[in-house]
Amino acid sequence: MDISGPKPELLDRFAAIVGANHVLTDPKDLAPHLVEGRGLYKGSSPMLLKPGSTAEVAAIMKLASETGTPIVPQTGNTGMVGGQTPRTGGHDIILSLERMNRIRDVDPVANVLVADGGAILADVHKAAEAVNRLFPLSLGSEGSCRIGGNLSTNAGGTAVLAYGNMRQLCLGLEVVLPTGEIWDGLRRLKKDNTGYDLRDLFIGAEGTLGIITGAVLKLFPQPVGHQVAMAGLNSTEDALKLFELASNLCGTALTGFELMPRIGVEFTVRHTDGVRDPLEGPHAWYTLIDISTSDSAETAEAMIQSLLEQGFENGLIQDAVIASSLQQQRALWNMRESMSDAQKPEGGSIKHDISVPVSKVPAFMAAADKAVLEAIPGARICAFGHLGDGNIHYNISQPVTADMGADKAAYLARWREVNAIVHPLAISFGGSISAEHGIGQLKRDELADIRTPIEMDLMRRIKQAFDPAGIMNPGKVVAIPGAGL
Ligand code: MLT
Ligand code: ZN
Repeated sequence: MDISGPKPELLDRFAAIVGANHVLTDPKDLAPHLVEGRGLYKGSSPMLLKPGSTAEVAAIMKLASETGTPIVPQTGNTGMVGGQTPRTGGHDIILSLERMNRIRDVDPVANVLVADGGAILADVHKAAEAVNRLFPLSLGSEGSCRIGGNLSTNAGGTAVLAYGNMRQLCLGLEVVLPTGEIWDGLRRLKKDNTGYDLRDLFIGAEGTLGIITGAVLKLFPQPVGHQVAMAGLNSTEDALKLFELASNLCGTALTGFELMPRIGVEFTVRHTDGVRDPLEGPHAWYTLIDISTSDSAETAEAMIQSLLEQGFENGLIQDAVIASSLQQQRALWNMRESMSDAQKPEGGSIKHDISVPVSKVPAFMAAADKAVLEAIPGARICAFGHLGDGNIHYNISQPVTADMGADKAAYLARWREVNAIVHPLAISFGGSISAEHGIGQLKRDELADIRTPIEMDLMRRIKQAFDPAGIMNPGKVVAIPGAGL
C-alpha cells in the first residue's frame, strides 16, 4: 500500500467511472461513513464512490487491483464489528452500494426474489409481501441495512430459530472479485451439487473476498395465523423450560423466542418513545414469544393460549400478555428491537455476541455474571437476545457513579479485559464469541485464539487466492502477516 495515499490523478480516474455526481470527497459528507454505530472505530478515507451498476463496480475493482488501491465496501453502515469502516489513518476508498438498490425480480412460484446488493431489507420485505410471500430475515435495523451487508455478515436476527440465518436464505450470488472480474452465480436452484460452494465462501466473508452486487433470496408463504406474547419469569432456567415447552407444543410454528432481563426493559422504557412496561409488576426476566401458523388463525390462537396456560400451571410464567392487535404485536417487538439502542444513554457498554447450545444458556449466564461482577462490582449486566437459537448479547453497562460521563472512557478501556472473562467461558460451554455480528476489526486479533491453526491457515490461503494484492477490505477478519493487512 502506498502510505501517502492515492494521488489526485488516480482519484480522478476512480471518480470518472461513476461520474462526478456520485462521488463524495468533502470531509463533511464523508464523516458519517467513517464511523459505525457503536463509536468504536473512526476511519479515514479520501473518497466515497457510489457506482450505479455491477459493471461500474467491476471497473472500480479493476482499477483498484491495477493500482494497489484498497477498497472498503459499505452498504447500510449498520455493522457492529467495524467491518464496514475504513482503517484509521489509512487511505481506503469507500465503495457504497446505496444506488444499487433495486429489486430485480420476484417469482412467487419458485419462491425467489432477486435483489441488488444495495437493496434495503425493508424494501425486500415489501416486495415479498406484494406477492403474498415472506422474506423472514428480521433485524432492528431493517429500515437501513442492505442485502449485500446482510449476506456479507451472514446476518441472523430474531427469526433464525425458524428460518435460519442469511446463509440459509440465499440461493445464488453475483459478486465482483478484487480483480474486477464478475462471478455470475445468480442461480435459483435448491439442488446444485456441482463442485465447491463458492456462494458460501462469500457469505460471511465481510467483504474481504469480493463485493456482493446481487443475490437470489428464498421466499416463504406468508403466515396465516400470527400471535405474539410477552411473559414475565423468575429465572433463565424457567425461560429455558418454557422454550422447551413451546418447542414441543408449537414445533415449526415457533418463529421467535427472545429473552430480556428486567434492566433491559427498564432501559428501553426509559429511553424509547412510546415503549411502556409490558406487564404490571417487574419480573426478573421476560420472554417474547412469536408463533406463526400456515393453516389458520385459530391454530395460532390455540397454541399461544395453551402454551401460556401450561406455563402458568407449571409455575414457569409469573404474568403474561397476548397482543390483541397488530399494533400491540408491533409494540411488543418494538420494545425488544429498541433494547440495543436503549443502552446508549446509560453510559459505556462492553458488548458480546456469544452463542452456546441453547440448553447451556442458564449455566453460561450464571458463570459469566459471577465472574464479571467479581471483576467489576456494580456492573449492570444487560444480557438479552435470541434464546431460541442460543445467541445472547451479553452486554455490560458501566456501574452507576457520581460522574458517569467522566468514568465512561475508563470503563470502556476495560473492553478487552472483560472479553477475556466472557469469551473463554462461552468457548468452555461449547460456544462461539461471534454468533451473528462477525469478526470485522473488533475480533480480528482474537480469531487465532479460537480457530485451530489449520483453520487459520486455510482462511489465509483463501484470502490470498481471491485477493493476492490485498486490496479487498484489508485489515478485516483475517490478518495476513507481512502483507500489512
Ligand atoms: C439485537 O439482537 O438487538 C442486535 O443484534 C443488536 C445488539 O447486539 O445490540
Ligand atoms: Zn441480535
